[in-house]
Amino acid sequence: MNEHAQPTTLSQRADALEEQMMHELGERIATRSTLFIMADGKVEMPNGPALKAANPDKYFLMGADPRLPKMPAKPTLIDFFNNRFASLNHLLQSATHALKGGHNEKVVLACLLHDIGVASFIRCDHGYWGAQMIEPYVDEEVSWAVRMHQALRFFADPAAGYEYPEMYIKYFGADYKPEPYIVADYERARKHKWYMTSRLICVNDIYSFDPNAKVNLDDFVDIIGRNFKQPEEGLGFDNSPSSHMWRTLMWPTRFL
Ligand SMILES: [Fe+2]
Ligand SMILES: [Fe+2]
Repeated sequence: MNEHAQPTTLSQRADALEEQMMHELGERIATRSTLFIMADGKVEMPNGPALKAANPDKYFLMGADPRLPKMPAKPTLIDFFNNRFASLNHLLQSATHALKGGHNEKVVLACLLHDIGVASFIRCDHGYWGAQMIEPYVDEEVSWAVRMHQALRFFADPAAGYEYPEMYIKYFGADYKPEPYIVADYERARKHKWYMTSRLICVNDIYSFDPNAKVNLDDFVDIIGRNFKQPEEGLGFDNSPSSHMWRTLMWPTRFL
């Protein structure tokens, strides 16, 4: 609530709105990035000076958000699974399906990680985001497969056992056509030596929405251990090209 004078001008009303949008946490002020606000259909960002003026005794949050699960000092992939991925079921079911199908560990890991972009970060172009996050830590084939499943999902390959998902017709309409860049990536992937690795993500993806299936992250700890190069310093602190992405996941409401 804004306990200050009733806003009268347009800019005062905007400031009051920003104050409403921010979350106050004891002595700290947590802010939402423009991207979070755009999800409400507005291109806006919190007004830093106005927030500070309205809360002169508080500092902006520049570290861990106490509302979120606590992360250890040297976080591992498993810590992100447990504390920052909104849903594990789909990933675990896909990986379990691949494991039961007798696929190699690269395929199983690709299935386990294929949607971490969605689970932790963002839906739009999730395959590309997810691939970028894991690229420094996995075999190139795994990150390539995760990246390309974004495009392959939209194209059937009956010989490989993959039909266009009925769900997509329900979700996106029968006339939905992927963007040209997706079509171009699909065509490139089709001719690539690792095509089947990415295609197997789609094949194992489509059957894995059973809410009753018993799945457990413990089943994959060894596969992660053998195939994910966990940095000693902790994910986010290892100076890799994607460290900043893991840090942002750790501290999504930091002011800067
Ligand atoms: Fe996906
Ligand atoms: Fe998926």
